[in-house]
Amino acid sequence: MVKICCIGAGYVGGPTMAVIAFKCPSVEVAVVDISVPRITAWNSDKLPIYEPGLDEVVKKCRGKNLFFSNEIEKHVAAADIVFVSVNTPTKTSGLGAGKAADLTYWESAARMIADVSKSSKIVVEKSTVPVKTAEAIEKILTHNSKGIEFHVLSNPEFLAEGTAITDLFNPDRVLIGGREENAGGLKAIQTLKDIYVQWVPQERIICTNLWSAELSKLAANAFLAQRISSVNSISALCEATGANVTQVSSAVGKDLRIGSKFLNASVGFGGSCFQKDILNLVYICECNGLPEVANYWKQVIKINDYQKNRFVNRLVSSMFNTISGKKIGILGFSFKKDTGDTRETPAIDVCKGLLNDKAQLVIYDPQVPEAQIFKDLSTPKFDWDQLGSTIQITEDAVAQSVKVVHNAYEATKDAHAICILTEWDEFKSLDYQKIYNNMPKPAYMFDGRNVVDVAKLRQIGFIVYSIGKPLDPWLKDMPAIA
Ligand code: NAD
Ligand code: UDX
Repeated sequence: MVKICCIGAGYVGGPTMAVIAFKCPSVEVAVVDISVPRITAWNSDKLPIYEPGLDEVVKKCRGKNLFFSNEIEKHVAAADIVFVSVNTPTKTSGLGAGKAADLTYWESAARMIADVSKSSKIVVEKSTVPVKTAEAIEKILTHNSKGIEFHVLSNPEFLAEGTAITDLFNPDRVLIGGREENAGGLKAIQTLKDIYVQWVPQERIICTNLWSAELSKLAANAFLAQRISSVNSISALCEATGANVTQVSSAVGKDLRIGSKFLNASVGFGGSCFQKDILNLVYICECNGLPEVANYWKQVIKINDYQKNRFVNRLVSSMFNTISGKKIGILGFSFKKDTGDTRETPAIDVCKGLLNDKAQLVIYDPQVPEAQIFKDLSTPKFDWDQLGSTIQITEDAVAQSVKVVHNAYEATKDAHAICILTEWDEFKSLDYQKIYNNMPKPAYMFDGRNVVDVAKLRQIGFIVYSIGKPLDPWLKDMPAIA
């Protein structure tokens, strides 16, 4: 029986290993983590992350060929293949702060693997890492190996949160990078391929050299984020000209060379990956003497910041330039629907912007716990481009100005304005007439996700702003926004 150990039981390690265990009954999978609460939750009825379909997969395999444990060293020592799926956040201090990936967790995992191993192992980079990390990992492993053979592979993960299980069941591709130039490297690639081939068609398993695999992951995320910033930049022009961004992106996306996916204008992209990975790409370009390339990619994040600021400015300027003391109902806080994850969610920046203008916020999200929202709004944000523009809100101010409630009607009752910041399906079918009746007039709707039927809401009486859509006559008369 092949034994796999995965270090890191997070959004990637948990679902990925659960699917490997589910699809490969003859493989034994142990997912280990330093966090005791996380492992306890993986072993309970309430898993630590919300992901459609995950519960069923975990319940089918847990205790049979899937185990969650804090006994890291024991499971690493016993494994044939060790996946490393620890977090690789952006560095917040020291050399490369604000851009470079912080590989502290990765390095400590590699050193521990070298320390406890008594048999040869394949070590798989599952985390997203800077190109050439495998070289550093190889050095750590071989300098401490006591004669044991280690083969390092890069097998970046492409799942998106909210659709992790379907993405893992039916991936567009699986990428395996390894030392193609030697027999040991080729054998390691084949061993990992033998796992995936149990459910992924051969032609979707791509084998490359290590550096191509590492860089492909950063490049894929940069390309995806770049599409969103592109359509978001066009959304600003749509509002200025009377074009409709949904019509424009649909017409543009019909060109097969462009494609229709990932062209939804929004209040901005969020999530733990896009910004972090682009900043990392920017840093690598700078380190390799490529400032023009670095600046090109930096612009993707600048447009994303611009889009979030633009949304806040639009709201404030539409409401007579003052929201001080006004109640604003916030619908959605997670960075996208079908996840409770709030890492880099645009809702944080938007809410902080509104709080900075002294609004009273009442927030509803179907999956994000109240404590998480309070934590996110009072945690100082690292200023990635060091221009000092980041708004910091104190814990006291958050406690005084923010309320978290348990449904959309409660959040919007007596609100001067509503902001939709996550595209949860339930926001499409709310009774907006009832909501309108319970709001002071004029009643505003600021839809950051193009969820509502603009014409219908205008008919009810709302003043509606929807990203990239022709402006409400009321908004056209308001002062121009920055
Ligand atoms: P996460 O923070 O949810 O999980 C990481 C886990 O690693 C944590 O539970 C942490 O306690 C654990 N950990 C850290 N150091 C450890 C150590 N030395 N030993 C044992 N456990 C340790 O992170 P995530 O979202 O799962 O992301 C992991 C990696 O995968 C990152 O590099 C990320 O960029 C990449 N990735 C994430 C996604 C995504 O959608 N979240 C998708 C693709 C790739
Ligand atoms: C992303 C990548 O898609 C995935 O391949 C990678 O492995 C991890 O990073 P994730 O961040 O989980 O996945 O979600 P994704 O669906 O990419 O959405 C990221 C952000 O972009 C969300 O805030 C989403 O709302 C936003 N988005 C997405 C848009 O604003 N418009 C779009 O058209 C698509």
